[in-house]
Amino acid sequence: MADIAVIGAGYVGLTTGACLASLGHNVTIADIDEKKIQDLEAGKIPIFEPGLEELVSTAVSDNNLHFVVGARSASATAQFHFLCLPTPPKSDGTTDMQYFHAAIEEIREIIPPESIIVNKSTLPVGSASNIQNLLSRKDVEIVSNPEFLSEGNAVQDFLNPARIVVGAESDETATKVAALYSKIDTPIVLTDAASAELTKHTANAFLAMKLTFVNEIAALCELVGANITDVTKGIGLDPRIGSSYLQPGPGWGGSCFPKDSSSLVQTAKRVGFDFELLEKAIDRNQIHLERTAKKIMDELPDKNAHKDGKIAVLGLTFKAGTDDLRSSPSLAVIGYLLAEDVQVAGYDPMVFEAVEELEELDIASDSYQAALGADVLAILTEWEEFTDLDFGKIRDVMRQPVIVDARNLLRRRDMEDQGFRYIGIGQ
Ligand SMILES: NC(=O)c1ccc[n+]([C@@H]2O[C@H](COP(=O)([O-])OP(=O)(O)OC[C@H]3O[C@@H](n4cnc5c(N)ncnc54)[C@H](O)[C@@H]3O)[C@@H](O)[C@H]2O)c1
Repeated sequence: MADIAVIGAGYVGLTTGACLASLGHNVTIADIDEKKIQDLEAGKIPIFEPGLEELVSTAVSDNNLHFVVGARSASATAQFHFLCLPTPPKSDGTTDMQYFHAAIEEIREIIPPESIIVNKSTLPVGSASNIQNLLSRKDVEIVSNPEFLSEGNAVQDFLNPARIVVGAESDETATKVAALYSKIDTPIVLTDAASAELTKHTANAFLAMKLTFVNEIAALCELVGANITDVTKGIGLDPRIGSSYLQPGPGWGGSCFPKDSSSLVQTAKRVGFDFELLEKAIDRNQIHLERTAKKIMDELPDKNAHKDGKIAVLGLTFKAGTDDLRSSPSLAVIGYLLAEDVQVAGYDPMVFEAVEELEELDIASDSYQAALGADVLAILTEWEEFTDLDFGKIRDVMRQPVIVDARNLLRRRDMEDQGFRYIGIGQ
């Protein structure tokens, strides 16, 4: 059992802390957000993540998990310091390291001798070595141990990962970090810090490119009269390709893919490599988002009076199973719609308040309220509950019965039988 400080109580920090505690370690999670820590102490989980609340509550009652404000109180006695801090993009696409610099500054003098700093956040190649310089403590090593969890399945992913990657300069330190996960049965990749950092960026960039590729094929399907569902089934059964991340959609987004892909392009630029393939995948994703908005706009009855048009959007989060709105493709598409002056009402099972960056977006209390008087119903996030709606009732409250299903969530035949004009993706 190790004494672990987890700095940052967000999606990754909270999951990491609760899971490490469930593996038997003594964990203290720190955040600068006092309200977040107060809520956690009161048993309130600030994010929606299946299974997390139970895990936190068990670890707290087992006295394995504690919450404090500020990194210093957590790190003063810990052997391991897991940094789970934000790494947002700067306007030029590079990674903003300010949260890391601030946290390192905060803890550098008080962390115990021979303790180990573990970077869980997604950081550009070279960060471990830069942070080591900033820390200027020869007795403390920085290890890269990137997190691969996916929101909506975070606890499961953390406790049953496809692999654990640990990158350190010394084998002894890497082995100490790997040992923290000894109760998890999975391949462990021990490597140097730069390779571990690049592994994480590569994984996200590769998945983003896979999604762009599928959206390109979906666009081609529409032009040649093929069906993307059958095409992806046909290629996904090939184990060399695999069936995951083959679902077409409005364009990809979320808190990780956009910033991590751009950061990798910028890393490549810094060392004189032109990563045109990835750059193009990012540009093409923007085109797919615009294309989705255009598909929706094309269904408005009066092309000259957008102000009178109304669009109902089902799904606002970046994917189903999370409450995370960061870089959501749905919000990007809505942004394009609002820029055309059309009225938009949105419903999402996990969004209850106005969306800060989209003031003109009306938040509806359910799908039927969103659909009231709408000319188009657009499905932009793949929440399962949208398949169980009473579509007869939806049709009756809409001004015209049109569905643009950017997730191919519904069955065309069922919708057409109910009297809808149905437009999917790649069909
Ligand atoms: N969200 C994901 O699905 C996911 C998956 C894998 C990796 N990652 C990476 O993990 C990192 C964290 O992502 P996240 O989604 O958990 O971010 P987040 O924004 O949800 O959480 C970060 C937390 O750090 C806190 N914080 C900032 N400065 C602090 C300081 N000095 N001391 C203590 N706390 C501080 C913030 O208040 C916030 O609660 C990012 O690098 C991200 O790319 C995220």
